Amino acid sequence: MAGTMPENERMQTWQSFDLVLFGGTGDLAMRKLLPALYRRFVAGLFPADARIIGVARGQLTREAYIAQVEASCGVHAGENLDPAKWTAFAYHLHYVSADGARPESFGPLQELLRGRESVQRIFFLSVAPTLFAAICDQIGRSGLATPGARVVLEKPLGQDLASASGINRHVGAIFSEPQIFRIDHYLGKEAVQNLLALRFGNALFEPLWRRGRIRHVQITVAETLGVETRGGFYDQTGALRDMVQNHLLQLLCIIAMEPPATGDADAMRDEKLKVLRALRPIAGEDVQARTVRGQYKAGAVGGRPVAGYLDETGVPPGSTTETFVALKAEIDTWRWAGVPFYLRTGKRLQEKLSEIVITFDDVPHSIFDAAARSPARNKLTIALQPKDSITLTILAKNPGETMRLKPVDLSLDLAESFKTRQLDAYERLLTDIIKGNLTLFMRADELDAAWRWIDPIRDGWLRHDDAPRLYTAGTWGPAAASSLITRDGFTWNDET
Ligand code: BG6
Repeated sequence: MAGTMPENERMQTWQSFDLVLFGGTGDLAMRKLLPALYRRFVAGLFPADARIIGVARGQLTREAYIAQVEASCGVHAGENLDPAKWTAFAYHLHYVSADGARPESFGPLQELLRGRESVQRIFFLSVAPTLFAAICDQIGRSGLATPGARVVLEKPLGQDLASASGINRHVGAIFSEPQIFRIDHYLGKEAVQNLLALRFGNALFEPLWRRGRIRHVQITVAETLGVETRGGFYDQTGALRDMVQNHLLQLLCIIAMEPPATGDADAMRDEKLKVLRALRPIAGEDVQARTVRGQYKAGAVGGRPVAGYLDETGVPPGSTTETFVALKAEIDTWRWAGVPFYLRTGKRLQEKLSEIVITFDDVPHSIFDAAARSPARNKLTIALQPKDSITLTILAKNPGETMRLKPVDLSLDLAESFKTRQLDAYERLLTDIIKGNLTLFMRADELDAAWRWIDPIRDGWLRHDDAPRLYTAGTWGPAAASSLITRDGFTWNDET
C-alpha cells in the first residue's frame, strides 16, 4: 500500500507517541481508529517505540486485546492483513483496564506511562461525552497530563450550549485550548480539504464567490442507512444535533468564510467563527417557516424493504425525534446578504450523497431569443461522497441548425485524476493530532457559536410541539422540504 501513497507521505516518520485510547474496545475505536492507525503504520509512519494503549473498563489481557483489534482490522482496514506487518503493528498495541468513575483504577495506566513523560502523550476520548469530565479529572488528578499532552474529544460535544460549555470548562481545567483537539470527522475528508484548495488555491472563483454572482447554495448530506444499532443514542440526539450542528455547519463555514490571511489553525478558525456568528438566528415563528423536520417510516432502500424509525431497536414508542432536517440559513454579511444557504440531511434517503451545489446568477442580459434560452444556470457541484468530484455546469449550444442553449457538465473525478489512494478522514485527523496541527479541529468558541444558533431551532420545535413530518424510507424526505426551496423559486439539485 505504501507504493500508492503520495511521495511526501512516504518519507516522514512521526515523532514518538503514547496514544491512550479511552473506549479502546468501543465501536469507533474498532471500526475506524485502529484500522486507520494500522494503515498509517503500514505506510511506514510509526517510530519504533510508539505505543497505542487501549483503555476500557473490561479486564482483558494484552493478547486478548490484540486478537480483538486484529479481527476488526481484518474487516475494516480495507485490505488483507499481511501477517508480518500485523505482527509488527501488534508490537505497538497495549491494553489497560481503567474506569473514569473509579480513581483507584488508574494505577495500571500510571504504571504504563511512568518514565515516558518526554514522549508525546495523547489522550483520545472515544467514549460517551458524559464521561469526558470524569476522565479528564482523573487524568489531571493522577498527574498524567504532561505539559505537552493532547486530548482528543469525539462528538457529540454536548447536547446544547449549556452542556457543551460545561464540557469545555471541565476539559479546560486540565488542558489549555491548544492542547484540545475536538473532532468533526467531516473536516478530515479529502473532499473538504479540496474545498479549501478550490477556494483559496485558485484565482478563478473568488471574484464570483459572493452575492450578485451566486444565487443560492445547497448543502446536502444524505444517508441510506437508518439508525442501525444506535437507536437509543440517536433518539436522544436527532438529525439537527447529530449532523447539522457539526458537519453541515462546518461545510457551510468553509464555503462562506473570508479568505484567511494564512493557513494557520487560528487564522482559519477565526474566519469560520465569524460565519457562525453572522448566521441570522432562526427562532420563534421563523422556526416553522424556515425549517422542516422529518422522520422515516417503513419503505424500501435500494430495493430492500426497511423498517420505519419507530420500529428500530432502542427507539421508544411514539418518539418525535427527527431523522431528517431541511432548513434555510442566511448569513448577514456584505458578501452573503440575500444569498440563501439551504441545508438538508437525513437518514434512510434515496441515495448516499454528500454534495454542495453553488448556483450562479443569470446572465445580466440575454442576446438569445426565447426559443434558444435555457432555464438552467451555471452551477458548481462539489461532491464529497460517494465520489470526490467537482462539476462545473455551463451552457453550450445544442448541436444542430438552430441556436439552442443546453447545460453540459465539465467534470473532474479527483481520485481518477490523481490516481492515488486517498487518506480516510481518521487517518488524516490522527496524523494531524500526532503532528499537533489544529487546523481541522473545532475551537471552543466555534462550538459555542454553533450551539447558540442551533438551540433556538430545537426550542422552537419543542414549543410548537412540532411533530416531525413522516417520509417514506428510500425517498428524498418529506414534501415540505421541497416546498421550503421551491417557494423561493429554486429546486433541490436531485429534483432538477
Ligand atoms: C456521524 C453521525 O457523525 O456521521 C452519524 O453521528 C452519521 O449518524 C455519520 O451516520 C455520517 O458520516 P459519513 O462519513 O458516513 O458521511
